[in-house]
Amino acid sequence: MLRFSTAGESHGQALLALLSGLPAGLPLDPAFVAHELWRRQQGYGRGGRMKIERDTPEFLSGIRNGSTIGAPVAILIPNHDWQNWHETLSVEAPAGAAARPVSSPRPGHADLAGALKFNFPEARYVLERASARETAARVAAGALAKLLLRALGIEVLSHVVAVGEAALDPDFPVTPDSLRALAARDEILLHCLDPDAEQRMKAEVDQVLRTGDTIGGVFEVRAFGLPPGLGTCANWDERLDGRLAQALMSIQAVKAVEIGAGVASAAARGSLAQDPIGYDPAARRFTRAGNHAGGLEGGITNGQELVLRGFLKPISTLRRPLPSVDFATRQPVKAAYERSDVCVVPAAAVVAEAMAALVLAQAALEKFGGDSLPELQRNYNSYLEQVRAF
Ligand SMILES: Cc1cc2nc3c(=O)[nH]c(=O)nc-3n(C[C@H](O)[C@H](O)[C@H](O)COP(=O)(O)O)c2cc1C
Repeated sequence: MLRFSTAGESHGQALLALLSGLPAGLPLDPAFVAHELWRRQQGYGRGGRMKIERDTPEFLSGIRNGSTIGAPVAILIPNHDWQNWHETLSVEAPAGAAARPVSSPRPGHADLAGALKFNFPEARYVLERASARETAARVAAGALAKLLLRALGIEVLSHVVAVGEAALDPDFPVTPDSLRALAARDEILLHCLDPDAEQRMKAEVDQVLRTGDTIGGVFEVRAFGLPPGLGTCANWDERLDGRLAQALMSIQAVKAVEIGAGVASAAARGSLAQDPIGYDPAARRFTRAGNHAGGLEGGITNGQELVLRGFLKPISTLRRPLPSVDFATRQPVKAAYERSDVCVVPAAAVVAEAMAALVLAQAALEKFGGDSLPELQRNYNSYLEQVRAF
């Protein structure tokens, strides 16, 4: 069972990812993990924080001499900004004069609900943990999940399909090669396949930069090379569609998740919304006339490409802050402002790849098991034989 959790605060010493259940013998590719972390920090519309941080993972456990050893993997990503915060967020001493309270909760953040829940007089500690800085840890762990999937011939990639009103043409071709090339770029603007659409997206970000506003959008994650049969229809909490939706929905600012043509299907006729089944005797395999299902039927992968979309609301922290109330006086004030991004759709796409990879790796290990990579691969290949011989 692959288990994964994170710890760490936005301005604390470091972020931590703990990943247990990886089989032994999976080679680490440190350059790949570093590149994934770099990708998360990019995108037009990121704020000043990403100029301070250059995320460098330290592998504390579970990897020895270049490969996993079947023990829990702990990854530490230091926060360079800690040097500016260690007095405010000291473990031992009270902050006193160095306190930096968040005294007026920001609408759209966890500030108010969290302060009420944890009974804090202001929202500093709530902000610290709710912040999406935590997603660096997700991406580090997700990179290891991707390496595991890669060893099974499965790849998880993404692109941005909309920023504000600017959208990629729905008929624009999306292929594994084009998404691979996008992931390999050494400069990331809006992580869009079409340069024209990307310029329109940039214009949307420029507009909100000018007006002190923020903007959201839509990303798409695709997984290639998946076998049929991951996940199950047996129990509600084991369905892979639900597990993937939860994983993507848990990303800060994601407010809706779509699988395949899910949203448009709600308005379509059943005769047009499904993917008719055929059989190719030469290739001795089943064929599908389309992929409205986005690769999942009944909570089980069907062997088609997995297509997931995440819809991000505009970033909540505004340079022109929204109305709020002072925690102490209860008087109307402007919401607190803390250095902020204005558009994070490309970064969220990278985080979503990581989350999807973690869920898919978990589902693969559930089905095929194995304490070492060769054992997992043997089990996997034997299942593929069974599918071929069906
Ligand atoms: C990669 C990434 C970076 C983010 N950066 C910011 C930011 O700089 N400022 C901000 O207000 N929200 C940012 N967010 C969104 C907030 O973290 C999120 O809206 C907030 O924690 C409340 O959670 P919710 O929107 O999921 O309800 C970011 C989200 C992601 C995925």
